[in-house]
Amino acid sequence: MNIRDENVLREMNLYPLWVRKELPAQSEQPLLEVQATVDERIPTHQNESPSQFPEAVSVAASGWGELKAQVKDCTACKLRAGCTQTVFGVGDENADWLFVGEGPGADEDERGEPFVGQAGKLLDNMLAAIKLKRGNNVYIANIVKCRPPNNRAPEPDEVATCLPYLRQQIALIKPKLIVALGKTAANALLGKDATLGSLRGKLHDFHGTRLLITYHPAYLLRSPSEKAKAWEDLQLALRTMSESGAAD
Ligand code: URA
Repeated sequence: MNIRDENVLREMNLYPLWVRKELPAQSEQPLLEVQATVDERIPTHQNESPSQFPEAVSVAASGWGELKAQVKDCTACKLRAGCTQTVFGVGDENADWLFVGEGPGADEDERGEPFVGQAGKLLDNMLAAIKLKRGNNVYIANIVKCRPPNNRAPEPDEVATCLPYLRQQIALIKPKLIVALGKTAANALLGKDATLGSLRGKLHDFHGTRLLITYHPAYLLRSPSEKAKAWEDLQLALRTMSESGAAD
């Protein structure tokens, strides 16, 4: 292991590597077993009528340019009045990996890019721990594109309004795996109100794309002892991708 790898694992509080060896023999778990844990009770949203989300923005099947312009000009919910700018998303538009956070914070609102503050640094280290890099086969986006005031979680109407933008981003990227960071992102995608503990550690389905749920980096900064579980989730993500032939 080189110094850089050691530093990454140190940053995740996972060094020395005995923590990794303590994990159950998960790495031997065949993907078929993992797939069997896909939660089939989740609503697929496939039969949603627009009336279920009366406030949702309408996104005509559009390409990147139109979508970016639509998001930039969006005033469809109350968040836009309180933020500096919309934060569309960043990265490789053909990425196999899509990481989805909750919504921009103060740093992201200022810079116009997701995950550029302290939580973003940890996310970059989490990516590095599985040999990924922002922008390289990785796309990063949020559930809502405007900063909620005082870093509160986005409210259900705001999520419902903004979600079509993310759905169109997903349709354009066609990722092999979506990694939802934290409970808000997970529940927004699944249309649920579940605890993170009950959602992580297994694969879900989002309209035919595999969805894995792990802790939000901001939560991990507050609760570093949970980093070992996040590491387990990242290992599951890696196994899923390597078995689908898209490891990096
Ligand atoms: N937290 C998020 O969920 N998204 C960001 O972009 C930054 C912090």
